Amino acid sequence: PAIAAVIPAAGVGQRMQADKPKQYLRLHGKTVLEHSVRPLLALEAVTACYLALSEQDPYFAATGLTDPRIVRVNGGSERVHSVFNALQQIDAARYPWVLVHDAARPLVRVSDIQLLIERCLAAGHGGILATPVRDTMKRGRQQVNCTVDRTDLWHALTPQFFPTAALRQAIAGALAAGVAVTDEASAMEWAQQPVLLVEGHSDNLKITRPADLQLAAFYLEQPR
Ligand code: C5P
Repeated sequence: PAIAAVIPAAGVGQRMQADKPKQYLRLHGKTVLEHSVRPLLALEAVTACYLALSEQDPYFAATGLTDPRIVRVNGGSERVHSVFNALQQIDAARYPWVLVHDAARPLVRVSDIQLLIERCLAAGHGGILATPVRDTMKRGRQQVNCTVDRTDLWHALTPQFFPTAALRQAIAGALAAGVAVTDEASAMEWAQQPVLLVEGHSDNLKITRPADLQLAAFYLEQPR
């Protein structure tokens, strides 16, 4: 089927302590955003790519992102609103499936995205890239309250891949119910829709703190 991509890229990246949002910081001569979008555009099935940008974004025009499949939409106040604004623009009859990918994840492999799509289409429902938790997990504030059993615990990554109409409906419902929606899967879980876990590579990190940019540069130099 034809697949639409949605890239929420309207964040301000406060935790980066940088002079511009993290998706516009440079990594190996290109912006983080260009790295994040390229693997999606590498897929022939992706024939439209909705980029949610801040209305007064002064940086996008200077990127090398000129692919005709790119459609610019306005971002919202939080990630979920940026994704929802983009979903509102998509014709679900033409694009029955949508891939949502963070602008701040420049290292995702095309092969991981292909695996996610294959597994979900075979299962007939949506899913996410994820990696198993390897550390011992604690709950607590100042002191440890308890150890959280890490069996069956995963880190949720992106892309996340869902039927377009079901995702739009789930996000609308979750927002109306006041549920925290920090990724697409959380809205689908709220709507009691199945979400497949597809194991991806753990170097698919989200640029959040300054050191992440250095780590991403290191990973990019490794043979893949
Ligand atoms: O800040 P965080 O790392 O959670 O952001 C994840 C993604 O969501 C980033 O690509 C960021 O640009 C995007 N975002 C957005 N609109 C917002 C906030 C974040 O598109 N209002």
